[in-house]
Amino acid sequence: MVLNKEWFVKILNVRKNLRITSVAVCSVIILASCATPSMRELADANDLKIGCAIQAGDLVTENREVIVNENFNLLLSENGMKWANLHPNQRFWNWSDVDHMVAYAEEHNMEVKGHPLVWHSQLPTYVKLMETREQGIEYLQDEISTVLERYKGKITQYDVVNEAINDDGTMRESIWYTKVGPDFIDLAFQMAHKADPTAKLIYNDYDVAFKGGAHADACYELVKGMVERGIPINAVGFQLHLCGDQPFNEKALRDNIKRYEDLGIEVEFSEVDVRIPASAGDQIYANQELVWKSLFTVALTEPNVSTFAMWGYCDLLSWIPPVFPGYGQAHLYDKLYQPKPVYNDIKKLLSENINK
Ligand code: G3I
Repeated sequence: MVLNKEWFVKILNVRKNLRITSVAVCSVIILASCATPSMRELADANDLKIGCAIQAGDLVTENREVIVNENFNLLLSENGMKWANLHPNQRFWNWSDVDHMVAYAEEHNMEVKGHPLVWHSQLPTYVKLMETREQGIEYLQDEISTVLERYKGKITQYDVVNEAINDDGTMRESIWYTKVGPDFIDLAFQMAHKADPTAKLIYNDYDVAFKGGAHADACYELVKGMVERGIPINAVGFQLHLCGDQPFNEKALRDNIKRYEDLGIEVEFSEVDVRIPASAGDQIYANQELVWKSLFTVALTEPNVSTFAMWGYCDLLSWIPPVFPGYGQAHLYDKLYQPKPVYNDIKKLLSENINK
């Protein structure tokens, strides 16, 4: 390996920055020997978790596996851990998808995030039929302790509760809220902390990234209340399913990140995608690229953002077209598994940020 002067200076600069871990410093040294570092290597050098929600087939299909390995140091299952899939019957656990992902991640030195433990959607019939608070608490306890104890030391972070707030900022009247009660969120976090005190515990929601929105402000109040009550919560996940044909309010995003920082709560960009209409012209494509680049710029320059996870990487396998008819092209790879132009712009941003 030949290190030229420029790279030595870069390494020294990084070492001066005490907030950068030795893993990141090693990554920079490795980068110095690579002609074209991968997205994952660049993220490692920035001490950024770069993640993706994957589907079971992604790890057993060669061209998809190459993309996963090149780009991500954090994996989560798009659907494998949802209650109806993982635990469809009270006496049956379907571990295969998650076990496979966890073993794969271990082999490839990646981190794994569990998503989601408690959600109103994708519930099996026996849960939907719960009648009492006691029964709900029993289900929560069983689910949370079984999963966290099984994957202790292997899954390092969890979306403990997902999407508990309505668009207008009121609490969602889910089965958990109505049958267990408004304290189901506190209870779930306490159970998770007890089952694995080392796991990072996250509240995750959509439309909560930009300060000033009803949903976002309600999320902040919810998390603030939890912190004040001493509930073991470590981070908030901003899903960031964005529209590339809309303006991007960078200030509102940064202000929101900062108010969580003041609370001692870390921020994850947890499910990023940027959809556009099928009829998009040049202007919308340009705006979409700007949104992607702004998101990475914010993630790299706000020290309270630890993670940039995407909800899928490829337009071919996207969840978006069935849910938002007429919209798509929301990911960094196109339907032919080719990276889009903005992909290289993002790599450039990551590369340029290493020295800052
Ligand atoms: O696996 C069945 C298949 O057997 C059946 O033939 C087919 C017919 O509809 O459905 C398949 O299941 C679908 C599953 O995705 C796998 O493709 C479900 O119907 C469908 O509802 C499910 O959608 C998922 C959705 O969450 C609901 O769980 C999406 O893939 C997934 O991307 C989406 O992810 C959510 C996050 O968990 C939370 N935040 C928002 C995000 C996007 O909605």
